Amino acid sequence: MGRVRFPIPFGWFQVAEPDEVPPGTVLPLRYFGRDLVCWADEQGEVHVQDAFCPHLGAHLGVGGVVDRGALRCPFHGWRFDASGACCEIPYSDRVNRKARLRTYPVILRNGLIMVWYHPDPAVAPAWDIPELPEVTSPEFSDYHTSSYVVQAPWQELGENAVDPAHFRYVHGTDEVATIRRYETDGPRFVMISEQSYVTPRGVVIGHIDSYGFGPGFNYVWFTGIVDALLVATTTPIDEGSVQVRFHFTVRKLGDDRSTSTVAEAFVAEINKQLREDIPIWEHKVHLPTPALADTDGPIMQYRRWCAQFYTEPLPEVSSPATSAT
Ligand code: FES
Ligand SMILES: [Fe+2]
Repeated sequence: MGRVRFPIPFGWFQVAEPDEVPPGTVLPLRYFGRDLVCWADEQGEVHVQDAFCPHLGAHLGVGGVVDRGALRCPFHGWRFDASGACCEIPYSDRVNRKARLRTYPVILRNGLIMVWYHPDPAVAPAWDIPELPEVTSPEFSDYHTSSYVVQAPWQELGENAVDPAHFRYVHGTDEVATIRRYETDGPRFVMISEQSYVTPRGVVIGHIDSYGFGPGFNYVWFTGIVDALLVATTTPIDEGSVQVRFHFTVRKLGDDRSTSTVAEAFVAEINKQLREDIPIWEHKVHLPTPALADTDGPIMQYRRWCAQFYTEPLPEVSSPATSAT
């Protein structure tokens, strides 16, 4: 069996943090196997478009500038507006109407810049990303943010969540969460789990409730000892790699010191777990028909849910004999 390069799924994906694109700035991006340009106009409204200028192919994210609400190409000064239309050729009285940039729907939601990606530009966003009131609530801490690039397809990372057995072996967790409910509804999933924590006051039953909205966005509530919210995003860079971003907020405790101590302990644990998972993900193969234990999590149910986000079939798994070079 060999490694599978999964197709790029469609959905809403985070492409930047807002502070990476202040008003009037341009940021080159690479996601979905494509070169992209992200820019914020003078008012701070963010746009994401294909990077290559339709005139003679310059990368608009490398030397392009924001100019009067549009993006100006570094090569010959053509300007493109927020819809992707050419709005000025500085050395011609006319614009070229055929010169257009593919423009992606963008939302700023929960403090994240997200775009709708579908291989077919004509397909409009098929679901929404919820607004989480805690993110802006004064009762919750600011985000603690971390980011990783992993050389594995998004689906392999997500499968981890429905695989409780690995926690004991990869993460050294004594008490493994029990999945009480796993349900999917179109692009959404809900997974409700229980986890017991040993505390000085005895064993406390906590909950880990995870809500997914397509392949790129999910949030997880941890309750029991403290209330903590993890907003996690997974963005395909290409068929074989993803960027993972964690945004973590906790309900404020009495004073700032204890709030940040608790938040930092949570963040440290989640980041530790991700670092422990990475060597597994980066070297494993995808087995289409795995040999499962009856007490394994809902692995196949999860994979059926994933399949809806592809517009092409999964490639055949290649054997090492044919894929080795
Ligand atoms: S390549 Fe962009 S204006 Fe010529
Ligand atoms: Fe894990």
